[in-house]
Amino acid sequence: MGPFRRTQKPLLFLGIGASLFIVALWTLIHNSEQVTYFVDSYRSKMHLSQQQEFKSGLGVEEKWTAPRLASTTEETTIPSVKLPGTDTRQSAWVDGFAILDKLYLRNGTFYIVTSGSEFPSRDHLIAKWLKMEKGVDLEATDKELQFLHPSRAKEVLGEYATIIPGFSVVIYDPGQFMHHFYHWWGEIIIGMWRVYSTLAYGSFDETDADGAPLSVDSLPFPSRFLLPAVESGEWRDKAGLNGPLMRAAFPGIPIEKADYWADLAKLDTTVSFERAMVINRHNSHKHRNSGIWFKMMAGTMNLTAPDGYWEPIRKSLLVNTVGSVPVVDSQGRVVDSDEKPIVTYISRQGAGRRLIHEHHLELVKLLKELEKEGLCRLEIPMMERLSIKEQLAIGAKTTILVGVHGNGLTHQLLMPRSLRSAVFEILDPPSYTFDYEMLARNMGHKHYAVNNDTLITFPKGEYHKGVRFSPGFHGNTIPVYAPVIADMIRRRLTEPDDFVED
Ligand SMILES: *[C@@H]1O[C@H](CO)[C@@H](O)[C@H](O)[C@H]1NC(C)=O
Ligand SMILES: *[C@@H]1O[C@H](CO)[C@@H](O)[C@H](O)[C@H]1NC(C)=O
Ligand SMILES: *[C@@H]1O[C@H](CO)[C@@H](O)[C@H](O)[C@H]1NC(C)=O
Repeated sequence: MGPFRRTQKPLLFLGIGASLFIVALWTLIHNSEQVTYFVDSYRSKMHLSQQQEFKSGLGVEEKWTAPRLASTTEETTIPSVKLPGTDTRQSAWVDGFAILDKLYLRNGTFYIVTSGSEFPSRDHLIAKWLKMEKGVDLEATDKELQFLHPSRAKEVLGEYATIIPGFSVVIYDPGQFMHHFYHWWGEIIIGMWRVYSTLAYGSFDETDADGAPLSVDSLPFPSRFLLPAVESGEWRDKAGLNGPLMRAAFPGIPIEKADYWADLAKLDTTVSFERAMVINRHNSHKHRNSGIWFKMMAGTMNLTAPDGYWEPIRKSLLVNTVGSVPVVDSQGRVVDSDEKPIVTYISRQGAGRRLIHEHHLELVKLLKELEKEGLCRLEIPMMERLSIKEQLAIGAKTTILVGVHGNGLTHQLLMPRSLRSAVFEILDPPSYTFDYEMLARNMGHKHYAVNNDTLITFPKGEYHKGVRFSPGFHGNTIPVYAPVIADMIRRRLTEPDDFVED
């Protein structure tokens, strides 16, 4: 091989490469219409996923543009909407769940830039992210949040801030209560979504491209979840549901933890959250409703939310796991199936808190009789032995859910709303708590607390007074007089529509 060839060969390849590049460029330019068409059609398919499309200019840029910066003098606001049919404006804020637009963060401290005074005080917006324990002062300080007049913004925050686009959900708590299926899904996520979904009202006087009023389905999903006080897996539950279900409900949406916060602090710059919700358990208990229901989401009940506001999450959870979203008709039957209404008894007989064994057997016997009468199909899943997908598939088709107070009843988050849907929560008498009642009210299911032979239930707007824990609340000899449950299920599944207890 001579020197001549050695120098010629790379040149030859370079020549071929360059020609190919010119041909490709020419093709692209002369077929740009087709290329644009292809890109557009792809993009409109993506639109169906409704995850990243933002109305009213809020959100992710579709095309790449130069990074934008925000002036730090732009004022922070709490969004509010006009409730339909009234003159009432409702702010997307309650203790423990606060939506703030243009919320600034620098070196781990939030800043509300405002020249007015219409904000709730700091101790109603945020708290220290320490564990809730006796004697620990959780009231917020200048480290957590400061109010800043726009005239001082430049001096404290610098002239510009990096924009964090979209809707950021900031769960400003340690892992203490998060790592529990009920606390995560039944309080934090549902409370977040209840407050956020109130913003759908703001769209009712607008119309979308087809002229139809916007609905909860058009609310963009969060862009990210931020858990600044949580290290790695501290937010995950033992049963292993929190994590996978978050990926199913919010596919492609990151869940960032303490290291993210630390990264931002190290940059020594200011960021501006386009829209953020700050969630905090300590503050949620400052709401007067918390003294009635003793639940983190109690205060969120004070906001008027659109009917069926949970549906987008339920749909997303089911589409991305089971692959479909069963709907139940007024008779309690899954539409487009030949099945009877499904009654699911979640047995906890393998767990700590459980029924007297004979009472469990009697309950199973009476529920099986309902099946023999042709009123329903009975499912008695051992949830802990099923895959997540199998668990969700059962919840998704259930019209009536029966079980001892406990995590299994959180599966009602998957149950379709319907006239006849109901949850029977068996408690050791004379106990009463609001955990699953609160969920049932939000989901549109009738709730019955079962104290042995007594059903305790309340119409809309009325509530049990106080909580009660019997000594045997967590015990393994919880009594239940099965006929009261079986009889009420029979009534709910057979009575004419107008008679079904609401
Ligand atoms: C950032 O916050 C840390 C911890 O609160 C503090 O020690 C440090 O001085 C702050 N840095 C700047 C530049 O303000
Ligand atoms: C919220 O609380 C206020 C003040 O207690 C009360 O007047 C109002 O009716 C409540 N709204 C809802 C929707 O619960
Ligand atoms: C439960 O109810 C049944 C039927 O009324 C009754 O016979 C039984 O004594 C009750 N058990 C308890 C522990 O209250």
